[in-house]
Amino acid sequence: MISIAKPQMGPEEKQAVLEVLDSGIIAQGPRVKAFEGAFAAMCGVEHAVATTSGTTALHVALLAHGIGEGDQVITSPFTFIASANSVLYTGARPVFVDIDPLTFNLNPELIEAAITPRTKAILPVHLFGLLCDMDPIMAIAQKHGLQVIEDACQSHGALYKGKRAGSFGTGTFSLYPTKNMTSAEGGMITTDDPQIAEECRVIRQHGMRRRYYHDELGFNFRMTDVHAAIGLEQLKKLVGFNQARRQNAHYLSTHLKGVSVPCEPEGYQHVYHQYTLRVPDGRRDALRAYLQENGVGSEVYYPVPVHQQSFYVKDLGYHVSMPEAERAAQEVLSLPVHPALSQADLETIVARVNQFMLS
Ligand SMILES: Cc1ncc(COP(=O)(O)O)c(C=O)c1O
Repeated sequence: MISIAKPQMGPEEKQAVLEVLDSGIIAQGPRVKAFEGAFAAMCGVEHAVATTSGTTALHVALLAHGIGEGDQVITSPFTFIASANSVLYTGARPVFVDIDPLTFNLNPELIEAAITPRTKAILPVHLFGLLCDMDPIMAIAQKHGLQVIEDACQSHGALYKGKRAGSFGTGTFSLYPTKNMTSAEGGMITTDDPQIAEECRVIRQHGMRRRYYHDELGFNFRMTDVHAAIGLEQLKKLVGFNQARRQNAHYLSTHLKGVSVPCEPEGYQHVYHQYTLRVPDGRRDALRAYLQENGVGSEVYYPVPVHQQSFYVKDLGYHVSMPEAERAAQEVLSLPVHPALSQADLETIVARVNQFMLS
């Protein structure tokens, strides 16, 4: 079976972990600090704050921006649930704006109609490794005095007009094993604002500015040095990983037939966290079953948009229509694109998809 994801762990990561275990400093220590510095440099920002996951990075970033009870945050309904759940954790409410059918990302033209006096922030999700159209999003945020918290959990190193994901507003990243780089589990917040960075550090560590003096409610969302050691080694390989993903995507897009392949608009650099097709004529699930029977892994990201998830409907009372997100949920299929694919794997993927789609 050609798997949909495959973490790439080499001798460097193993050696780095052993060094931490031998060092005696296993919880948050010098590797976390070094990882934060290197990650900030990769994004082209001043500060990075490591956390335990992408979810906690989002949660902490929202709290650091003062988002809470009674506030509204505009985001995409076509994403992993954590983008919206992190807003709920703060007591605020996600307000969904439909997606652009070509990019699968928040459609900037629909944002202004969703702004109310309670809107505090926009949370664009750079889905599948492609940035949102950030110029209009930043312009709308500035015009209405809104914060921007980027969900860059799927877009490490991706570019929009020469700027990296996570460098527009406050960025949040996941370092889960299937991501473009990993620390096993982990998250990262990126910002140019020293006060936001400081607030994130305080919230991450039980609201503590001075040792054992707690001025506000915080959490234990600290990354360990074991995770940071893996992350540091992975970060060194990120450019190569992303190049391999882009090459694999290019091969697939050149050879696949009968499906709509992902787009990379002018001025963007996609990092293909996922290589996501649209399958026409209601054939998506049948293609998926055919691929499964013939040794090619695939996955539907995401079969249910967030506003249609059962607890959003039943418990939170969401009754909105997001036609493009709903259509995408019916049509999308992600194929393997990870750096470990061989040329033979790519040829097999293309052959199986084309056999089915052209039959
Ligand atoms: C778009 C998006 N947001 C948030 C998250 C949450 O990250 P984590 O799983 O590290 O908590 C993920 C990860 O799966 C994601 O894909």
